[in-house]
Amino acid sequence: MSQQTYQPSLQRITVLGSTGSIGTSTLDVIGRHPDRYDVYALTAHTSKEALLAQCLTYRPAVAVLDSEADATWLRLELKRVGQPTEVNAGPEALCDVARDASVDCVMAAIVGAAGLLPALAAAEAGKRVLLANKEALVMSGALFMDAVSRAGATLLPIDSEHNAIYQCLPAEHRGGLARHGISQLMLTASGGPFRTWSQADINNVTPEQACAHPNWSMGRKISVDSATLMNKGLELIEACWLFDATPEQIQVVVHPQSVIHSMAAYQDGSVIAQLGNPDMRTPIAYGLAWPERIDAGVETLDLFQVARLDFEAPDEARFPCLGLARDAMQQGGMAPVVLNAANEVAVDAFLQRRVGFTAIGQLVADVLSRPFHGHVDSIESVLATDQWARQQAQEMVARWSA
Ligand SMILES: NC(=O)c1ccc[n+]([C@@H]2O[C@H](COP(=O)([O-])OP(=O)(O)OC[C@H]3O[C@@H](n4cnc5c(N)ncnc54)[C@H](OP(=O)(O)O)[C@@H]3O)[C@@H](O)[C@H]2O)c1
Repeated sequence: MSQQTYQPSLQRITVLGSTGSIGTSTLDVIGRHPDRYDVYALTAHTSKEALLAQCLTYRPAVAVLDSEADATWLRLELKRVGQPTEVNAGPEALCDVARDASVDCVMAAIVGAAGLLPALAAAEAGKRVLLANKEALVMSGALFMDAVSRAGATLLPIDSEHNAIYQCLPAEHRGGLARHGISQLMLTASGGPFRTWSQADINNVTPEQACAHPNWSMGRKISVDSATLMNKGLELIEACWLFDATPEQIQVVVHPQSVIHSMAAYQDGSVIAQLGNPDMRTPIAYGLAWPERIDAGVETLDLFQVARLDFEAPDEARFPCLGLARDAMQQGGMAPVVLNAANEVAVDAFLQRRVGFTAIGQLVADVLSRPFHGHVDSIESVLATDQWARQQAQEMVARWSA
C-alpha cells in the first residue's frame, strides 16, 4: 500500500510591521516552514536597512516604507543586486498589500493607531487576519468585528493572552460567554517591571527602566504600556470585542511568571488555561497554522524549572491606567478612542523624557474628562476623534514640559 505524504497548501503572507518585535518573530516562524509560507509583502516605517536585509532573505513581491525618499533608496539597493521586489511608499500602499487579491493571510503588527487602516483593509478583503495590533480593536471594535463577519474574514488573536483564551474556548464562541457556559475570562498580567515598587520610586522611573520588561522582549511602546498596566487595559477592551464579553466578565490576574497566558472559567467550575514559555512565536505559529499546529522554535515548558506559579490582584492605586481603560470600555462610544490616542501621545512624550512616568495616567485621565462626543459609526468619525484627542494631549504635554 502506498502512503501519501501530507502536502500543506502554500499560504501567501503580508507582514505589516515586519521590522518590529512581532514582525521579526513572525519571519522567524515563517522561515522554519518554506513549504507552507510564501512572503508577498513586508513593510516598515523608517527602518530601511532592516527592511532591505529582510527583502534579501525572504524575497517578497512588494516592500513598503513610509517616505518616498526611503522607498527610492530601497529600490536602488534592490536593483543593484538584481532583486525584482517592487517598493512603494505611504499609508495607502500598506492597505494595498493588506488587501491584495493574491494574499491569503495578513500579520497586522504595526504599532499603534497607524495599524488600524491596513488591518481593517485586510478584514474587509476577507483575509485570515493575525491581529497583534490591539489598538485597531480598541479604536474601532464594532466596525472591525462587523467588517470581519461581513467579508467572511478569519480573525485570529496574536496577543498571547487573547490567543490563550481563544485556545481555551469552544471553536464557536460568538454570541456571548453565557451561551457557551463560560462564566469569566481571566486575563493574566506579569505586573510589569514596577510591580513591587513603591509609589515614590515609580514617580522617578526612566524610559530605560520602563522598557526593560522582566519576561517579554517587546517594542518600546508596548513595553511602557506593560509597565503602566495600560497594556492590560487595552487588552481588556480587545477581549470584550473578540469574545463578546463585558468588562465585568473579565478578571485581570497578576501572574509574575508569565507562564499561564490566560484562562477561561466555565459555569461547571472548570478553569481551562493555556501555558507555555513566554515567547511570541507560540501564538504567532498558532495563528499561521490554525487549525493545525507547527513547530515555532519554542522549547516545551519545563514545569520543574518553573516550580511555582503566583497570583495576585492588580494594584490600581499605583497603576491607574487599568481602571481608566475599564471605565472607558464601560462608557463606550468614543471613550476607548480618546483613551488610546491620549495614551500614545503620553507614552511618546515619556519616551522623549518630556513628561514623567506617572504623568501618563494623569494625562489620559485629563483628556478623558473633557467633553467629547460622537459614535463609532464610521472610520472617519473614529479618526476625527483620534485627532482631537491627540491634539488635546499634545497641548497638555507642551504645557507640562514647558
Ligand atoms: N511585542 C510583543 O511581544 C507584542 C505582544 C502582543 C501584542 N503586540 C502588539 O503588536 C503590535 C506591534 O508591537 P511590536 O512590539 O512588534 O512593535 P515594534 O517593535 O515597535 O514594531 C512596530 C512595527 O510597526 C512599524 N511602524 C511603526 N510606526 C508605523 C507607522 N506610523 N506606519 C507604518 N508602520 C509603522 C515599525 O517600523 P519601523 O521598524 O520602521 O519603526 C515596526 O515594523 C503592537 O500593537 C503591540 O501592542 C506586541
